[in-house]
Amino acid sequence: MTDPQDLTPEDLTLEEKASLTSGADFWTTKAIDRAGVPSIMLTDGPHGLRKQAAASDHLGLNDSVPATCFPPAVALGSSFDPELAERVGVALGVESAIEDVAVILGPGINIKRSPLCGRNFEYVSEDPIVAGRIGAGLVRGIQSQGVGSSLKHFAANNQEDDRMRSSSDIDPRPLHEIYLRGFEYVVKDAQPWTVMCSYNRINGVYASEDPWLLGDVLRDDWGFEGLVVSDWGAVNERVKGLAAGLDLEMPSSGGFTDAQIVAAVKDGSLDESVVDTAAGRVLSLVAKAQARPAAAGPLDAEAHHDLAREVAGRSIVLLQNVPVGGTPVLPLAPSASVAVIGEFARTPRYQGGGSSHINPTRLDTALDAFGDRVSFAPGFTFDGSGDAEALRAEAVALAAANDVAVLFLGLPDADESEGFDRTHIDLPAAQLELVEAVLAVNQKVAVVLSNGAVVALPFADRVPAIVEAWLLGQAGGSATVDVLTGAVNPSARLAETIPLRLEDTPAFGSFPGAFGHVRYGEGVFVGYRWYDARKMAVAFPFGHGLSYTTFSYGKPTATVEDDGDIRVTVAVTNTGAVDGREVVQVYVAPESSIVERAPRELKAFASVALAAGETQDVSLLVRREDLAYWDIRVDRFVVEGGVYRVEAGASSRDLRGSTSVHVAGDEMRIPLTANSSIGELLEHPIVGPIVREQLSGGQEAADGAMDAGIMSDEAMAKMMASFPIGRLAGFPGMGIDREQVEQLIALGNRG
Ligand code: BGC
Repeated sequence: MTDPQDLTPEDLTLEEKASLTSGADFWTTKAIDRAGVPSIMLTDGPHGLRKQAAASDHLGLNDSVPATCFPPAVALGSSFDPELAERVGVALGVESAIEDVAVILGPGINIKRSPLCGRNFEYVSEDPIVAGRIGAGLVRGIQSQGVGSSLKHFAANNQEDDRMRSSSDIDPRPLHEIYLRGFEYVVKDAQPWTVMCSYNRINGVYASEDPWLLGDVLRDDWGFEGLVVSDWGAVNERVKGLAAGLDLEMPSSGGFTDAQIVAAVKDGSLDESVVDTAAGRVLSLVAKAQARPAAAGPLDAEAHHDLAREVAGRSIVLLQNVPVGGTPVLPLAPSASVAVIGEFARTPRYQGGGSSHINPTRLDTALDAFGDRVSFAPGFTFDGSGDAEALRAEAVALAAANDVAVLFLGLPDADESEGFDRTHIDLPAAQLELVEAVLAVNQKVAVVLSNGAVVALPFADRVPAIVEAWLLGQAGGSATVDVLTGAVNPSARLAETIPLRLEDTPAFGSFPGAFGHVRYGEGVFVGYRWYDARKMAVAFPFGHGLSYTTFSYGKPTATVEDDGDIRVTVAVTNTGAVDGREVVQVYVAPESSIVERAPRELKAFASVALAAGETQDVSLLVRREDLAYWDIRVDRFVVEGGVYRVEAGASSRDLRGSTSVHVAGDEMRIPLTANSSIGELLEHPIVGPIVREQLSGGQEAADGAMDAGIMSDEAMAKMMASFPIGRLAGFPGMGIDREQVEQLIALGNRG
């Protein structure tokens, strides 16, 4: 028998090859005993291992083996730290290896198009560079342990509503610049073993059977070498999908689709080489999984819990910390008496619902972590049951009797989950009423939020301290107290804008679409790109997050390196009294562009630890390819030449210094035609000077209009610029005839 490592599709029959292209059951691939092909296991993901012992389902309904529940992506993304993500990835890899899981189904890096998406807690950011870099860190970490990752959900799966049918209708620019860019980054940077195609359609074509997406883009353009697996149940037409590049269908189809594949080869409608390719990729995946060194178990649950706590601490965003009576409410003074209010302090919401639901090894609560120093009142119930007034009265009395009130508010489980979207971004009314009632008796209030996606904060102008604690995983309770007491100095940043109102958000009015289509009408203006372009006020901007210390910035410098990347350096000083971390952000935009662009886009960031008083020259790299826009004329990314503004700062709206740099543009020749405009011809290196000369020779008509005062010189030049050269030839007295136009076009298109 051949060693499984050396098996190729030629060693197998057509039926055996077809059988490899779909699952054996919910979580495993098929074994072929005759040929020595073992079965391997793929399980969720993404922020912990969800290996189901007995009854299988993909919505987290049935129990799984205990595993560390790390902070979900909404939190991890806020760390803005790919190295931290890599450490989490290593831990996920270790836990998967111990449980003999070959592939863990994550990370999920879909763009947060709307705060309403029910699954935003599983995704990283509204920005593709943050999503891509955090995703790549996770993949690197997982795969360093000989375990595969599954980058998901590819692609443009930005809502839950009708997710298995809906078509995300997206123009090429936003598709490439926003929705595919993060995936491209992870594929090129970290080569995930597998990519999971999404349920939805993109511009009318199912992701699971799109040869453009799975072939041209993923493999030909990005060089993906791994296997494409379907999301669970994403297969529409199996044979079509296989031909498009969907290698492995999950879960099992009970042999039904395997038989379809065999029949298609036999009737000549499917080339057997397509089956060979897919089966070959399954064999390679199996071989990689087999090559993993034996795992060193058992799980060190304590060590992983400690990591989960550290990461959660790095994921908490201090949104606001206004002094009351001269002193900020946070960190809590050791001598202050503290009223802890809100059911979330006792019953934490630490992960979201659905397929990512982990059975944690342990669960910390903030209340336990505070210990005896605080007193507690639940303030409300999650489901609205009980005597709301009595609960509120008890909480208000407690707030009045203590120096400080810490209110744990948030969204109950039922409000956000895989499988459905939210319809609003409001906190439950009972909680909002509670805030007002507490404020009436005590001004020293800190609100701590538990939510998987942003919520409106109507009390932000009255509550002095606000902590966005997202969903933080199993150690979130203790990590929150670490931050509240100052044991950990907060350093996380918003990877998604907190809007003032749902009505302000970019996809408002076109989310979740209707009748199987959702039009991404906001184009490239997603997240902060939208609010900045429209100069809109927001509650808290992208990139924002405070610290218990302060940082000052020197003037940034930017130089173009030999390979075209831009090296940005900026001196950052911790000007406060405690050690801390600053997330230094670099935003870049061309001074002018031929396409509509956001006023600024994040292109580099670094999370830097600085001791009190310390200064560091922080060096960041802006990759040349990240400056590019997608040009629909040539169907590729193009870097425009010209001056780019480079801004460094602490958030997208707290820019501390700027500089500019000249970037050489990509060589690009658009073929000239009779429909090319005069303006386009004038910019052409060869024909431009000739056209200028020719037109200045005979402009009787134009001169006439100018002489008669109908148009200014400038207006005439503008009008002429958009005139197709071929049409101009038909006008008498314009100094150019049809033959000359043809000659110019031929000259311009030569070589
Ligand atoms: C989800 C995936 C998940 C899969 C397996 C699907 O419903 O969309 O993210 O990995 O189920 O549970």
